[in-house]
Parts: sequence; structure tokens; C-alpha cells
Amino acid sequence: MSRGRVQIFGPTRAGTMVSAILMIVAIGSSAVRESEDSRSSNSQNGYIGSARCAECHIEIGATQQRSDHAHTLRPMTDLSNLLRKLPIHFDDKENGVEYRLERSTGGAAIDLVAQKNHRRERMQLIWAFGAGRKGVTFLGKTAQGEYVQSRVSWYEKIQGLDVTTGAEVRKVQNAHDALGETQSHEARHECFACHLTRNADLLPEKIEESSGGVQCERCHGPGSKHAQFITEGKGSEGLAIQNPGKLGASEQLRFCGVCHRQPLEELSKVILDNATVRFPAQRLVLSRCYDESDGKLKCTTCHNPHENLPTSMVVYDPKCLSCHAGKGAIGSSCPISEKDCVACHMPREAIMKHSDFADHWIRKVRVAK
Ligand code: HEC
Ligand code: HEC
Ligand code: HEC
Ligand code: HEC
Ligand code: HEC
Ligand code: HEC
Ligand code: HEC
Repeated sequence: MSRGRVQIFGPTRAGTMVSAILMIVAIGSSAVRESEDSRSSNSQNGYIGSARCAECHIEIGATQQRSDHAHTLRPMTDLSNLLRKLPIHFDDKENGVEYRLERSTGGAAIDLVAQKNHRRERMQLIWAFGAGRKGVTFLGKTAQGEYVQSRVSWYEKIQGLDVTTGAEVRKVQNAHDALGETQSHEARHECFACHLTRNADLLPEKIEESSGGVQCERCHGPGSKHAQFITEGKGSEGLAIQNPGKLGASEQLRFCGVCHRQPLEELSKVILDNATVRFPAQRLVLSRCYDESDGKLKCTTCHNPHENLPTSMVVYDPKCLSCHAGKGAIGSSCPISEKDCVACHMPREAIMKHSDFADHWIRKVRVAK
């Protein structure tokens, strides 16, 4: 297993990862899973593109296209925030490497330059992974034609570059090494498979910009039959579009879990490994709320999948209270407080470099004062 893969899964152990990947293959729903023939052009395999969906679904279209889902894979030219800050410097003192992000010579693109022992190597960056809420990792191509995952990433919290989570373990021998980890076709495919809408199997330069990020048809499946049905009244499958909101709780956890990682059989492993806080479904199933609510608690109970997370935690209170207060409540009420539920029961944990995650294992936790 290449370190490039271990890297992105951060602190997760290889074993967990392998099973997560196998599950993408085994139980990904047909909408989420890349279709076999996704090599061919959109119109041929029924994709119509999110711009078309947004013509009819105006509000959802507008919010979704602003969301982190839609921006989790961007061409470098879209990173206006970073472009304004160029050149950006970072010293990896431990390995004696000086890094610089700068404009490509004579181009609009961005290069990553690494200098070690008076030798300098450069690669042109093609894609940026991560919408920027936490981190952004780059994929570039060296002069020798290798595809490389950058050894440094942009971190929002520090407004600067740092070594990519997981990449610290590898010793850097020379400037070429310092650029990052060369990715095999398989490793590259894996990254793209969770960060774009279609055509994960193409060469990075061949992937269309309009396919970057998680957009409508990644979750709802190809939409041409649906659009045709609506406009012409034809079709025999109802609205002819998938709605993952209609999935039962455990099916929906698996649907979102294709990317956010699947729940694991061995609950004790999850409990013992704090790194699993990154994976909502794995933690949520440990909760009594999930276990004792008869399939009523799923991802969309608390999340609007088209929007970014709300900035205020107060919006979660009514969701908790829908089970924990009032007539017919199936859960008990809190002896401590009537508001700010998630502040105490879903605390954030700093499990990765410069980023923290809310623990979806809802429980009575002790919170540091
Ligand atoms: C020509 C207009 C039109 C286009 C284009 C269109 N839709 Fe729809 N869609 C509708 C209408 C009308 C409905 C039914 C009323 C409603 O639920 O809003 C609908 C319903 C839906 C539903 C609900 C299905 C259900 O079972 O509840 C989903 C999901 C959906 N559309 C997704 C999409 C996606 C994704 C695209 C692009 C691939 C798209 N639509 C393109 C008009 C359109
Ligand atoms: C195709 C892969 C994929 C699927 C399927 C998917 N997600 Fe995501 N999701 C991502 C990625 C990648 C990000 C990180 C976006 C970024 O770069 O910040 C993300 C981010 C999020 C966020 C954080 C939003 C924010 O404010 O930044 C939430 C919440 C979320 N997903 C919920 C869901 C739910 C609920 C489902 C199922 C209905 C789902 N996701 C399905 C890949 C996916
Ligand atoms: C199994 C699906 C999956 C694979 C494979 C995957 N990612 Fe992600 N990635 C996600 C999801 C889901 C998120 C958002 C939640 C999180 O950070 O765990 C994310 C977040 C990110 C972020 C934003 C940082 C952050 O923590 O929010 C970056 C950068 C990233 N991925 C890069 C990569 C790269 C590079 C690869 C390949 C080495 C890769 N990902 C492979 C699903 C995946
Ligand atoms: C990350 C996965 C994801 C993406 C991307 C996504 N949707 Fe959805 N969509 C869902 C889920 C899950 C539901 C069910 C929501 C619920 O029941 O609370 C849904 C529901 C809908 C509905 C039914 C009406 C409603 O509000 O529940 C429509 C219409 C729709 N989506 C259209 C779109 C369009 C158009 C896009 C792209 C602009 C899009 N979706 C992108 C997951 C997604
Ligand atoms: C009981 C409510 C609830 C349920 C159910 C729930 N979440 Fe969350 N989720 C939250 C809260 C609260 C946060 C933290 C929001 C914040 O800090 O801004 C969060 C954060 C997230 C994030 C961002 C990670 C972070 O903290 O930065 C992702 C991704 C996510 N949820 C995905 C999912 C997925 C996928 C599911 C289904 C398996 C799910 N959630 C089920 C309440 C819920
Ligand atoms: C779909 C219904 C449902 C939702 C939504 C829900 N819960 Fe629960 N929760 C339950 C049930 C049922 C139990 C077990 C019975 C009880 O309350 O003692 C439970 C148990 C709990 C417990 C006790 C856990 C323990 O370890 O003993 C806490 C704390 C809790 N919930 C907090 C929350 C918070 C905070 C939210 C919102 C983020 C929430 N719940 C959302 C149904 C729900
Ligand atoms: C200031 C922190 C804090 C806040 C805010 C808070 N809780 Fe609690 N909650 C606790 C603590 C601590 C306990 C454990 C009390 C005990 O065991 O005596 C608890 C216990 C619970 C229990 C278990 C009760 C039982 O009888 O076993 C539930 C359910 C619960 N809280 C739900 C909620 C909900 C819903 C909200 C928001 C309306 C909320 N909590 C807000 C700290 C908090």
C-alpha cells in the first residue's frame, strides 16, 4: 500500500482503509458508484450536468453550487484566494527543504517548487483537493510526466502551507522527493473517485472542469431520463431520478459512507481508535440515539446535503429536541440544559493537523471547562 493513500486517510490505519475501499466497490449505491462506462461523454451515459438541473431546481442549484461538496475538487485557476497570495513560502526545517508556490513561468497556472541541497525541482499543479474549509492538497505533474500528490498542503487555520497530514513519516532524500508522492493510476483514481462527479478514471488533464467536486448527479444519478420525463411526460419509472432522502437509516449511512466511510462491523475497533472521529457513520452507530430510535436517525435528520454546515450550533437544538422533549418523546430529557445540545454532546476533536471534527458518537461526555 503506497503511503500516498495512507496519507489522506490521515491517522486511519491501513486495515480500516482497505475495508473502506472494498466497501466502495461492494456496496456503493448505483448513483454514487462511478458507472462502468463513465469514460464516454456525458450525453452518452445519461449525464446532463448540474447547470441543467439548476434550470429547474433553481434554489437547490444555487446553494449546492456554492457548497464545499461542489468545490472539493477545483482546477488551480479557481483558487483566487491563493492566487492573490502568491508567492507563498514554507520551510520544512526538519528535512531542510524550502518550498514555494508561485506562478508558472509565463503561464496562469501555479507551480510547486522544492529546493534542497542547492537543487531545485518544480511541478505544475493541476487539481486542488479540498474546498478550503480545512485543508487543500494539490495534484501536479512533474517534467518527467509523473503525477504527484503534493507533500505540502494549504491549511486554512494557519493561513499557510505545512507538510500534508501523514507525509511527515517519509524521509526526504532530495528535491524531487520533496515535491511529494508519485501516484500510481490506482491511487490517483481512488482520490478522484470520492472528489468528483464523473470520469474518475481519466487522466487528470482529461477530466472536465465541470465534473470537479461532488455535484447533483453524483448523488442522484444521471438525470437525462428524469429531464425527459418532466419535459415530455414520458418514462415508466416515476420521476426517474434517485432521491437518497428516501433511503432508510442504515442504507443512507452507507450511501453517504461511500465517501465519508462506512460503518464497521467491529464496534470495539471504532471505540478504541480516536481517529475514527473523522468518519461520521462509524461513530453515529455507536450512539444510543441511533440504536434506540427504530431507524429514525440518519444523516439527513441533521444535515441538508445541499448546503454547507450552518455557522450556528443552535440550529441542531430542535433536531435533538424532536426526540428528547415534548409529547411522545422517545428519548429522555437533559438534566443539565435545554439548549446548545451539540456543544456538550458532540464535541469537536483535533484529530488531524490544523483541523478538528465533531464526534458523531452522541453520548454523555465530560467536557473540559
Ligand atoms: C425540466 C425541469 C427539470 C430538470 C432539468 C430537472 N428536474 Fe428534477 N424535478 C423536476 C420536477 C418538476 C420535479 C417534481 C416536483 C418536485 O419534486 O420538485 C423534480 C423532482 C426531482 C427530485 C425529487 C425526486 C423524488 O423522488 O422525490 C429530485 C431528487 C430531482 N428532481 C433531481 C434533479 C437532478 C439531480 C437534476 C439534474 C440531473 C434534475 N432534477 C433536473 C424538474 C426538473
Ligand atoms: C462522492 C463523495 C461524497 C458523497 C457521496 C457524500 N459526500 Fe459529503 N463530502 C465529501 C467531501 C469530499 C467533502 C469535503 C468537502 C471539502 O472539501 O471541504 C464532504 C463534506 C461534507 C460535509 C461538510 C460540509 C461543509 O460545510 O464543508 C457534510 C455535512 C457532508 N459532506 C455530508 C454528506 C451527507 C449527509 C452525504 C449523504 C447524503 C454526503 N455528504 C455524501 C464527499 C461526499
Ligand atoms: C473514500 C473516499 C475518499 C477518498 C478515497 C479520498 N478522500 Fe479526500 N475526503 C473525503 C471526504 C468524505 C472528505 C471530507 C471529510 C473529511 O475530511 O474526512 C475529504 C476531505 C479531503 C480534503 C480536505 C481536508 C479535510 O480534512 O477536510 C483533502 C485535501 C482531500 N480529501 C484530499 C484527498 C486526496 C489527495 C486523496 C487521495 C490520496 C483523497 N482525498 C482520497 C473522501 C475521500
Ligand atoms: C451529497 C449528495 C447530494 C448532492 C451533491 C445533491 N443532492 Fe439533492 N438530495 C440529496 C439528498 C440526501 C436528498 C434528500 C434530502 C432530504 O430528504 O432531507 C436530496 C434531495 C433533493 C431534491 C428533493 C427535494 C428536497 O429538497 O428534498 C431535489 C429536487 C434535489 N435533491 C436536487 C438536487 C440538485 C439539483 C443538485 C445539484 C445542484 C443536488 N440535488 C445535489 C443529496 C444530494
Ligand atoms: C444528530 C445530528 C447529526 C447526525 C445524525 C449527523 N450529523 Fe454530521 N454533524 C452534526 C453536527 C452537530 C456537526 C458539527 C457541526 C459544526 O461543528 O459546525 C456535524 C458535522 C459533520 C461533518 C463535518 C465534519 C466536521 O465536524 O468538520 C460531516 C462531514 C458530517 N457531519 C457528515 C455526516 C454524515 C455523513 C452523517 C450520516 C452518517 C451525519 N453527519 C449525521 C450533526 C449530525
Ligand atoms: C431520532 C430520535 C433522536 C434524535 C434526533 C436524537 N436522539 Fe438522543 N437519544 C434518542 C434515544 C431513543 C435515546 C435513548 C433513550 C434515552 O434518551 O435515554 C437517546 C439517547 C441520548 C443520550 C444519552 C446517551 C447515553 O450515553 O446514555 C444523549 C446524551 C442524547 N441522546 C443526546 C442527543 C443530542 C445532543 C441530540 C442532537 C444532536 C440527539 N440526542 C438526537 C433519540 C434521539
Ligand atoms: C453544558 C453541557 C450540556 C448541554 C448544553 C446539554 N447537555 Fe445533555 N447532559 C449533559 C451532562 C453532563 C449529562 C449527564 C448528566 C448525568 O448523568 O447526571 C447530560 C445528559 C443528557 C441526556 C441523558 C439523560 C438521562 O436521563 O440519561 C440526554 C438525553 C441529554 N443530555 C440530551 C441533551 C439535549 C437534547 C440537549 C440540548 C437541548 C442537551 N443535552 C444539552 C450536559 C449537557
